Amino acid sequence: MANIKFFGGQTIPVEMHRVRVVQKLHLIPARERLRKLREACNNLYMLQNEDIFMDMLTDSGVNAMSDDQLASMMNADDAYAGSRTFSELKAKVTELFGMEHFLPAHQGRACENILGQAYVTPGSFVPMNYHFTTTKAHVTRNGGTVVELVAPGGETVQGTAPFKGNMDPDALKKLIREKGADRIAFVRMEAGANLIGGQPVSLQNFREIGDICKQHGVLYVMDASLLQDNLYFNKVREPECQDMSIRDIMRAICDCFDIIYFSARKLGFARGGGIATRTLAQWDHMKELVTLNEGFLTYGGMSVKEMAAITVGLEETMDMDIISQGPLFIAYMVDQLVKRGIPVVTPAGGLGCHVDARAFVPQIPGEQYPSAALVAAMYLAGGVRAMERGTLSEDRNPDGSEHIASMELARFAVPRRVFTVSQLDYVVDRIAWLYEQRDIIGGLKFVEEPKTLRFFVGKLETLSPWQDELVDRFERDFGKDN
Ligand code: F0G
Repeated sequence: MANIKFFGGQTIPVEMHRVRVVQKLHLIPARERLRKLREACNNLYMLQNEDIFMDMLTDSGVNAMSDDQLASMMNADDAYAGSRTFSELKAKVTELFGMEHFLPAHQGRACENILGQAYVTPGSFVPMNYHFTTTKAHVTRNGGTVVELVAPGGETVQGTAPFKGNMDPDALKKLIREKGADRIAFVRMEAGANLIGGQPVSLQNFREIGDICKQHGVLYVMDASLLQDNLYFNKVREPECQDMSIRDIMRAICDCFDIIYFSARKLGFARGGGIATRTLAQWDHMKELVTLNEGFLTYGGMSVKEMAAITVGLEETMDMDIISQGPLFIAYMVDQLVKRGIPVVTPAGGLGCHVDARAFVPQIPGEQYPSAALVAAMYLAGGVRAMERGTLSEDRNPDGSEHIASMELARFAVPRRVFTVSQLDYVVDRIAWLYEQRDIIGGLKFVEEPKTLRFFVGKLETLSPWQDELVDRFERDFGKDN
């Protein structure tokens, strides 16, 4: 991917690939979108894909595959036990991560389930730069407590720090001192931190935190699901990495860790996941959880086709032209929104463009789910499906009160190699239109609320008829067919 300078003066990200397979999209009219939104009980997870024009819910399992990935899938070795395709995947993980041992799992949260059961005990603590929804659920489920230690500035929406995902080393030392190293199940680094806007971690911080873990004999675990974006940011933002190859940066990061797990729905541009361990003892400690919950040790719930695609995808992750596409598209979208005065997380991170719902719809209190309301409004405004990443994505406090999220974001994920710049321009235009109408957007309330991970299937309704008014205004400005 190249950020190409145009004769006209602007800089536009130009794709270093061409599109050879396409999927037809549908843009249903706004009035119809309102009907579909109500059928989905204001929860965008419950929409049907055919009713969505731009699906920016996630980058998970929906990245475009390369021709080489698709070709490898045809040649995968189908076997329950001892598949050659698994050996090739394991060899690629060892080559790139520098870890000898590998456990396959069906996706990222399956790895979290295994790590949670293997290492988290009641009363233990899991410090992390920032939590992810499924990670926190697995730690809590096993009786542990998540402690977030993101460095100062990480939660500042409009910041300038290049590595807002860094962990605060002093806070980690203090926690270990206070709780005792034996009560720390493991330290988890998420490379980059999803819920604060896909913000990266510096190589220097990976090392510094690793040194503290070593000093205290604490296990150091990386969630590498978003590592491909992180590698790009290390290369372009960290002086030490500028003359290193992506492969060398990858190795330097991995060398800090005892255990690395990942969702291959993101890292590797495929579907699946796995856990790499430095020692045989760690592998041994977890292997029965794989055979019990996932599948045999040479597939772990993945199809051999997906394993073949991951192997190729991991190798392709070492190519700057490939991994820069996502971050450059996101930076383009962030720049366009900043130019229009729309509040977004800066600097641009990985995964997607994150709109600050708290600043966009300040009239909606946290208990009425501002970012859930904003993404619902965005579906009405453009058939765009973004993801709520705020209070609705948190579970309630034990006493039943709302846990108001520190950041209230509407995430417009940019799945890799899927969209074009003109499609991003469309989304920017509709966000800009919605920003003009922001005063009429109102809150939501639950009518059916699951206890865990309520954002997936919870049902909501509006607190006032603001959505009808929004669609009236849309038809006034764009007609009935858009
Ligand atoms: N860790 C991180 C940092 C993630 O972003 C995700 C998934 C997981 C773990 C869980 O992996 O989905 O394969 O089970 N993130 C997706 C998202 C769901 O949309 O951000 P999984």
